[in-house]
Amino acid sequence: MDRAGAIASFDALAAHAVEEDANCQWRIARRPVGNVEPEDFEWRVTDIPEPGEGEVLLKTLYLGLAPVMRFYMQGTARTGDAGLEIGDVIHGRGVAQVVKSRHPGWREGEIVQGQMGWQTWKVSAMTAQEKFFRMPKNGLPAALGAGVLGMTGLSAHAGFFACGDPKPEDRMVLSGAAGGVGSMVAQMAAKVVGCDVVGMAGGPEKCDFIRSLGCSEAIDYRSEDIPGRLDALRPDGIDLYFDNVGGETLEAVLERLRMHARVVLCGSISEYTRDEPFALPNYTRLRATDSVMRGFFVYNHLDRWDAVMEEMAGWITDGRLKPVQDIEQGFAAMPRALARLYHGGNVGVQCCSVRGEPEEWL
Ligand SMILES: NC(=O)c1ccc[n+]([C@@H]2O[C@H](COP(=O)([O-])OP(=O)(O)OC[C@H]3O[C@@H](n4cnc5c(N)ncnc54)[C@H](OP(=O)(O)O)[C@@H]3O)[C@@H](O)[C@H]2O)c1
Repeated sequence: MDRAGAIASFDALAAHAVEEDANCQWRIARRPVGNVEPEDFEWRVTDIPEPGEGEVLLKTLYLGLAPVMRFYMQGTARTGDAGLEIGDVIHGRGVAQVVKSRHPGWREGEIVQGQMGWQTWKVSAMTAQEKFFRMPKNGLPAALGAGVLGMTGLSAHAGFFACGDPKPEDRMVLSGAAGGVGSMVAQMAAKVVGCDVVGMAGGPEKCDFIRSLGCSEAIDYRSEDIPGRLDALRPDGIDLYFDNVGGETLEAVLERLRMHARVVLCGSISEYTRDEPFALPNYTRLRATDSVMRGFFVYNHLDRWDAVMEEMAGWITDGRLKPVQDIEQGFAAMPRALARLYHGGNVGVQCCSVRGEPEEWL
């Protein structure tokens, strides 16, 4: 099945009717094998829960989507939580409004972002594990909390600045440049730091799009020969590589490192649906070039949350960072929104509007 066909196979799920006076949920019906399929998801409608002492009732406004959610569905624990079982509500962060509060630390009406799960209401004790943050009223849409000013944004910032140590003279390469993290890194590199960035994305339209974000050149990895294009566009080698895809692309970049290069391991989506892990054959290029390859996990960078969010909101306001969010409409469309990531259907951060913007927010 082609890309569009694979995503369209989820349309029937997206036709479920969302009831406002009930809690609609998406749960795990089956462990995904390869890409997610419609049969992996179960629709469930339950009562809206009542908050007990020390709890709040949250109304979901937006939910964010990330490739890691397929791992949650497989039962792989990624965030320090126990792995999910079949029948569990799928994990996912989102933006919500506190509609009832019996918790001393949270007021009714506040807009928050945190671990909501794939559901339209949630009762929460607002535990540290759920990582809830108040959304600042800074004149920007609440939707951004489900991506650009949420964990995707922190991932882009922490990976690029804290791990990549970028410099204006860097000859940079960025894979997954049209995706959530990638579209932010492309702009921070080109417009905040001033690096020359060669981006990679799937298809001519996405290549035009990443040029519009500031990439000086684009490689269409689906139709072009990656090693040949890297030789043509980076004849003197690569100082900084931000890796969202892993696999053979990472291998090709390592062959072309300059001295003292930096490689940031953000993600490896090209490997996620493989049966066998990719065994990187040429890691010794790091030794030969005195280079550093550094991985990171976004939840290990939460201590800088406030500073990073404030800085990125400033870049959005002054025009250096254009927030790119690809918003599916309606909670029922969540499975299709996840499938879009794995089939390259999204441009920017994939999220889903459940109820849209809160009243009197902007
Ligand atoms: N380290 C961390 O803490 C952390 C945090 C967040 C995210 N991540 C990782 O960072 C990466 C980007 O995350 P994101 O949330 O922004 O997702 P994303 O980049 O929006 O992911 C979806 C995109 O990945 C590309 N893709 C899908 N299959 C591919 C394949 N086989 N080969 C190459 N590209 C493929 C597609 O773009 P094309 O159409 O261009 O193919 C698709 O639009 C992911 O690998 C994710 O797991 C890591």
